[in-house]
Amino acid sequence: MRIFAAMLKNDLILRAARGEKTERTPIWLMRQAGRILPEYRAVRNSLSGFKELVETPERAAEVTIQPVDILGVDAAIIFSDILVIPEAMGLTYEMVEKKGPHFPKTVQSKADIKALKIADPSDLSYVYEAIKITKTELNGRVPLIGFAGAPWTIFSYMIEGGGSKTFSKARRLLYSDTELADQLLNMITESTIGYLKKQVESGADMLQIFDSWAGVLPSEHYSRFSLKYISRICDAINDVPITVFAKGAWWALPEMKDINCHTVGLDWNMNPEEARSLFPNKTLQGNLDPCALYGSLDTIKSETQKMLHAFGDHPHIANLGHGVYPDTDPEKVKYFIECVKELSSH
Ligand code: CP3
Repeated sequence: MRIFAAMLKNDLILRAARGEKTERTPIWLMRQAGRILPEYRAVRNSLSGFKELVETPERAAEVTIQPVDILGVDAAIIFSDILVIPEAMGLTYEMVEKKGPHFPKTVQSKADIKALKIADPSDLSYVYEAIKITKTELNGRVPLIGFAGAPWTIFSYMIEGGGSKTFSKARRLLYSDTELADQLLNMITESTIGYLKKQVESGADMLQIFDSWAGVLPSEHYSRFSLKYISRICDAINDVPITVFAKGAWWALPEMKDINCHTVGLDWNMNPEEARSLFPNKTLQGNLDPCALYGSLDTIKSETQKMLHAFGDHPHIANLGHGVYPDTDPEKVKYFIECVKELSSH
């Protein structure tokens, strides 16, 4: 029975991440767990809310596996949030229904940083437990992706206290107090390295670093305050393939050539043809506009065809150019996944 399960194992995404040719293009979706699935909402509504779900390993494992069963994706991504790292460092977050994350306390001064610590990997044992349970329950069906936020994106949340239109408080610090900025970025980086290593030890087969707010920085600051720290994380992890997704930072792609990662995530503003020539030795991930899934089935099919054509025979992991939007019809998501499978088979 065990041998049979091992033979069935779908490792397409791992092979694609290593640059190997695959019989078809693997597909998963950023933010596939939660958001769009009524089955997810039913689990979440049976608890006090998002945070209890993240912190209850059996239930987190259950919603991690839902998109594998319901949507047919080629990988699961562990159900958690990038904001568990600031919390483990000492800055608690709240998830406000329909509004998003909120930090009651933020970092504004050296004294605020003194009150924080580098996360102790044991602080996030609920995530590692959820990974172990998920791996057992997946039983080799598809690989499991672990993840963390990039230091710059986590820094932004810790300074701003939530989302922002301009991120002016976080960006201001990069001009007004470089030392403080680097001190906090260093602490986040160290915390993240320990956290990702533990995810791998617990069973994560590959990792993704989400730099969701990359696009708000001028390019010089992006290299200096974001890529530098991402690079340090990639250098520290050697056991599994890593994907770096820098949303909005198309101008930083040339500099990402030297980063020690296997896959570069592209958003829908980035041009796959240009990326192919920039990254002859890296796999590319992406990048259908999430809004394409509001189109008709015919539109979804033709847009998927165009996307696959743009990546050509370059090692490719299909995905959207950012997370799936919460009001997307799950049937359209399923159809997109079927189209990738069908149109890329050879
Ligand atoms: O499917 C998956 O990708 C796994 C789970 C996952 C969540 N958050 C669950 C979640 C992942 C990978 C994340 C990453 C994350 N969290 C990012 C990076 C990716 C991106 O979208 O750029 C960011 C910026 C966050 C911070 C965050 N968490 C925000 C802004 C919000 C509120 C709005 C929203 O729905 O995105 C969250 C909440 C959150 N994280 C939900 C889920 C399923 C929604 C909470 C709920 O309604 O149940």
